[in-house]
Amino acid sequence: MTPATTLDRERLARLMAAENAAFERANPRSRALFDRAKGPLLDGVPMNWMIRWAGPFPLFVDQASGARFTDVDGHEYVDLCLGDTGAMAGHGPSPTIAAVERQLRRGITHMLPTEDAIVAGDELRRRFGLRWWQFTLTATDANRFAIRLARHITGRSKILVHNQNYHGSVDETFATLDAGGTVVPRYGNLGPPVPLAETTRVVEINDLEALERELAQGDVAAALMEPALTNVGIVLPDPGYHAAVRDLTRRHGTLLIIDETHTICAGPGGYTHAHGLDPDMLTIGKTIGGGIPAGAYGFTEAVGERIRAGIEWEVADVGGIGGTLAGNALSMAAIRATLTEVLTDAAFERMLPLGARWAAGVDGVIRAHDVPWHVTRLGARAEYHFMPDLPRNGSEQAAHGDPELERFLHLWAMNRGVLMTPFHNMALMSPDTTAADVDRHTEVFGEAVEALFG
Ligand SMILES: Cc1ncc(COP(=O)(O)O)c(C=O)c1O
Repeated sequence: MTPATTLDRERLARLMAAENAAFERANPRSRALFDRAKGPLLDGVPMNWMIRWAGPFPLFVDQASGARFTDVDGHEYVDLCLGDTGAMAGHGPSPTIAAVERQLRRGITHMLPTEDAIVAGDELRRRFGLRWWQFTLTATDANRFAIRLARHITGRSKILVHNQNYHGSVDETFATLDAGGTVVPRYGNLGPPVPLAETTRVVEINDLEALERELAQGDVAAALMEPALTNVGIVLPDPGYHAAVRDLTRRHGTLLIIDETHTICAGPGGYTHAHGLDPDMLTIGKTIGGGIPAGAYGFTEAVGERIRAGIEWEVADVGGIGGTLAGNALSMAAIRATLTEVLTDAAFERMLPLGARWAAGVDGVIRAHDVPWHVTRLGARAEYHFMPDLPRNGSEQAAHGDPELERFLHLWAMNRGVLMTPFHNMALMSPDTTAADVDRHTEVFGEAVEALFG
């Protein structure tokens, strides 16, 4: 490593202090609202993740539209976070707003179906290829219900997940591997109901030997997987990994659940369609309602038959699957409009090259400064990592996290009108994102790297 690429922590701390001070100066109204919010809201935020933003307090939003939002101090931002995928369709897409406004006046929730649900189900079937569909309010619920059904129909107790996964607040998934390869609760896991090793087996992505060993125990109802890790940072599967996963899960009688909540960034039918995966069940949420709460899970004809054979639907309301507001008319109208008119095949044709443009811009800066970092991309989502090579698994990626550096780069970008996802260095393209938005990020990122290493 040349001296130019060595991170000087004192310099970073000085730069960080200057950025914190600039943020304070520029955002007096957000500061005042944050102070007021500390009255009723724990730590001044309505949901605890919102304290994870870089900077001494979160920005309060005035309004958002397309790929941009304005804060209460009047600054406009290029939004590359997009509600951590909840607003991947862009903020307030007109077709979704029109459909939701129409539906608001026709009944929000009746616990009776509307025609929109049929179109939404047909569209999900067209995109992902799974025969049957059910709806939830969140991706977390879709995963919880898929897991329950898998356990019920296989009669097995455990699930298997990738190390450093995230699938929502699903108890069984908060398991990780310690340095000796033992399953332990993830650091920070709050109030696990039972020791995680009782419910969960964990393997690194791309470790087929471990996968085979764990499945061979014969107690795994389902493997729940993102096709590429996205929540520890993007970790791509090796060529052939998914074909082997499918083969091993089938051989050991384990259902394969693919979670496309984030990896829909790979294309209109997610990673599943783009790479010809063949899961037994598929879960998704966040973006499909264009920001209106909505999730869904699909399954094959064969799984549908096993569900029908193994469940008495007359008592299903107390079976642990479903929810009073799930499948409500408003969510169904939002999904129909978002999938058929906003996150369309044509929209992805614009979004995917923007993802490539973002990655190329960041890569250019990294190379120009000879910094030992790397860029990964999955369709319309891309990310930089503080390591010279691509990570092969969740442990490798987690080991190269650098919260101090990450916060600095995010705050630097925020102070210059660009919002990144708070949890890692991820940027997401929406149908409204422009090449100029992407280039603005490249420019700001370049200035930050120059300030750190120049
Ligand atoms: C892959 C994946 N699945 C499921 C979820 C859960 O989504 P929600 O919190 O909207 O239920 C997330 C959230 O980040 C996710 O990244």
